[in-house]
Amino acid sequence: MTESAVPRRTIQTFVRRCSSLTRQQHQGLELYADWRLEAPTALTSPALFGNDHPLTLEIGFGMGHSLVAMADAERERNFLGIEVHRPGLAQICYEAGLRQLDNLRVIEGDALAHLRQYGVPESLDRLQLFFPDPWPKKRHHKRRLVHPEHVAFLRTYLRPGGVFHMATDWQPYAEWMLAVMEQAPGYVNLAGAGNFHPRPATRPLTKFEKRGLEAGHGIWDLLFARTEADLTP
Ligand SMILES: C[S@@+](CC[C@H](N)C(=O)[O-])C[C@H]1O[C@@H](n2cnc3c(N)ncnc32)[C@H](O)[C@@H]1O
Repeated sequence: MTESAVPRRTIQTFVRRCSSLTRQQHQGLELYADWRLEAPTALTSPALFGNDHPLTLEIGFGMGHSLVAMADAERERNFLGIEVHRPGLAQICYEAGLRQLDNLRVIEGDALAHLRQYGVPESLDRLQLFFPDPWPKKRHHKRRLVHPEHVAFLRTYLRPGGVFHMATDWQPYAEWMLAVMEQAPGYVNLAGAGNFHPRPATRPLTKFEKRGLEAGHGIWDLLFARTEADLTP
């Protein structure tokens, strides 16, 4: 990764919430510790899974139910989840361990920081960002994960042709995402310029999506592919 591709700001895209763990979540961390990666290693399929299956990274999987469902449904694909929220990490270890999902691993912490340290350019086939914190106040917009600096940084880890899939239930953020992504060099909108994408059948309902639907919100999916063009001078 080039020095210029590293975002300089250290503004965080999350708030660390202190919540205690349920009994099941304690079991997740104790019985199924193998699903949680602690030792630093390259974030690639060969290093993490010992094979060269396509790798999907999900940033901020929350409680992880939808990521587990996706990994269960697509065993020939590897899934890596990175989340700061400890109960979510513990819950997904429990669910993945129970199902013995060999194609899913998780890491605790800030996905941007992990990528910066251990990410390998062009190693991801898909990048998923489902119902990220919308940071609705204007003064907090700089904390949004879909932000020009972050999406340029994330692009370097997608293989050419790899897809960045976003979804949100917050209309102003959906419009912001569309504007940011269409301005971002090196991405193409798979739904055609100016359009949101129909919800892919492969994306399970998430906890925050359910919450949004119950509040009467709409749902917007966006799929952008990394173009072949190399942007480095
Ligand atoms: C609103 S929740 C959505 C969770 C889940 N995707 C869903 O739809 O139910 C957003 C999650 O993203 C996580 N998050 C935000 N920024 C992150 C980052 N830089 N790295 C890892 N996780 C992050 C938060 O901890 C939070 O759990």
